[in-house]
Amino acid sequence: MAGPKRILFAGSECFPLIKTGGLADVMGALPPALDSRGLEVFTLLPGFPAVKAGVKRAKKVGVLSDIAGGSVNILKGKSPTGQTILVADAPHLFDIDGNPYLDANGKDRADNGIRYAAFSEIAAKVALGQAFKWKADVVHAHDWQAGLVAAYLSLTEGPTPKTVFTIHNLAFQGQFPKSLMRKIGLPAQMFHQDGVEFWDKISFLKAGIIYSDLVTTVSPTYAREIQTEEGGMGLGGLLKKLNHKLHGIANGIDTEVWNPETDDALPKPFSKKAVAGKKAAKKSLLQHFGLSHKAKGPLFGVISRLTEQKGLDLVAASLPHIVGNDAQLVLLGSGDKDLEAVFEEAARNHPNHVGAFIGYDEQLAHQVQAGADVILVPSRFEPCGLTQLCAMRYGSVPLVARVGGLADTVIDASTAALKHKQGTGIQFSPAGFDPFIAGLDRALQLYQDKKTWVQIRRNGMREDVSWALPAAAYHALYQ
Ligand code: ADP
Ligand code: GLC
Repeated sequence: MAGPKRILFAGSECFPLIKTGGLADVMGALPPALDSRGLEVFTLLPGFPAVKAGVKRAKKVGVLSDIAGGSVNILKGKSPTGQTILVADAPHLFDIDGNPYLDANGKDRADNGIRYAAFSEIAAKVALGQAFKWKADVVHAHDWQAGLVAAYLSLTEGPTPKTVFTIHNLAFQGQFPKSLMRKIGLPAQMFHQDGVEFWDKISFLKAGIIYSDLVTTVSPTYAREIQTEEGGMGLGGLLKKLNHKLHGIANGIDTEVWNPETDDALPKPFSKKAVAGKKAAKKSLLQHFGLSHKAKGPLFGVISRLTEQKGLDLVAASLPHIVGNDAQLVLLGSGDKDLEAVFEEAARNHPNHVGAFIGYDEQLAHQVQAGADVILVPSRFEPCGLTQLCAMRYGSVPLVARVGGLADTVIDASTAALKHKQGTGIQFSPAGFDPFIAGLDRALQLYQDKKTWVQIRRNGMREDVSWALPAAAYHALYQ
């Protein structure tokens, strides 16, 4: 294809170097998928200690002086999965361990505004070829941490690369006091309603929406939902007004990282055809959580950040129903302290039926995906969601709220769908307690109908959840 070739990705996470959620999965898998379409994608990341430690064969290729009061070396190297990474090596900005946005007490880090404005400025300069001899045709910036890239580019004279901005989650907007304007080198004229201003603050996310040539979100349904009062989180009107440049493209997953046929985390590999490994995975998962009881009902699994968005209070409230029906639940997650405590206590109170691991564990995430019968994703809103895609790939049936990307990626196994050999999971709507219980009941029933259950699992495993189609859609947008 003719057209743009050199693409700069800018974002704050990238699997396997640094990850707090799905953003990292996208940053670690979409660029290689675009590379294999003949593009040249460089992924720029902040030089957090974990990033610097993980990037292989890093060489200094350029330097930018005077970014937030210090100079920035640009290093070029490879991620452990072979992706080309540019590191913004600037200890005065990025020498932070642990969560890139939150301190040890779970509070926003005090200097996030300066840090991520600087990151955006660095991305703009790299894209313009000011750090080293490589100019981007397109900059693809992700979430509020890279929200100011297009704003900085708009301040330069002469030709600039085109800009695409992807909203992974409208709930995180990067808002800071207006006093930051001067410190981050943005002119006062930008602080107005059609610029970076949002309720008398600076909004990095709004800046990304306003100044970028194209805006995307990570599923078509979410692109519609955010244009409403209800789903727009204060930006619904603006997104509706700008919907001519708004596109929704559902995410894929890295089908090499998530491959039950080669996955080292599993006791035994399995595929669509040979699913004995699936049984072995369930057995070993139950053992891992000390659940020796052989239940009549299915094993439900959760892998999630424990936040309001993810609706896990519904799962907590449904525990008596799950246990009462002799089904089981294993949960891997961390976040909200009250929810963590609820699930830990449930595991103590129901040692035959409930297991919980509070923390973050990549291996265990794979084991839960493989070992569970059903993966629960009862989100109140979900821009795309990746765990339901992994579930299908691993022959687990996703039970999801019909919102955002969950609505787009899971086909409800209704009687009509099943008749036509369709149906990859169970949807419930609206996202609330009674509909969720109804969804659980459908899962409990379908699980007892072995033939149908096997069919739903197969349907899911047959789905193309790879990046091939979404990468083609992004490529077309760049054109
Ligand atoms: P979000 O980005 O909103 O958290 P996604 O479904 O897009 O939701 O992506 C979540 C990603 O993080 C998935 O790769 C999932 O496996 C992973 N994940 C979430 N919680 C944990 C955890 N406690 N341990 C390991 N992996 C987790
Ligand atoms: C965000 C969203 C999630 C999405 C992920 C990757 O974290 O919450 O729905 O899958 O980004 O795009």
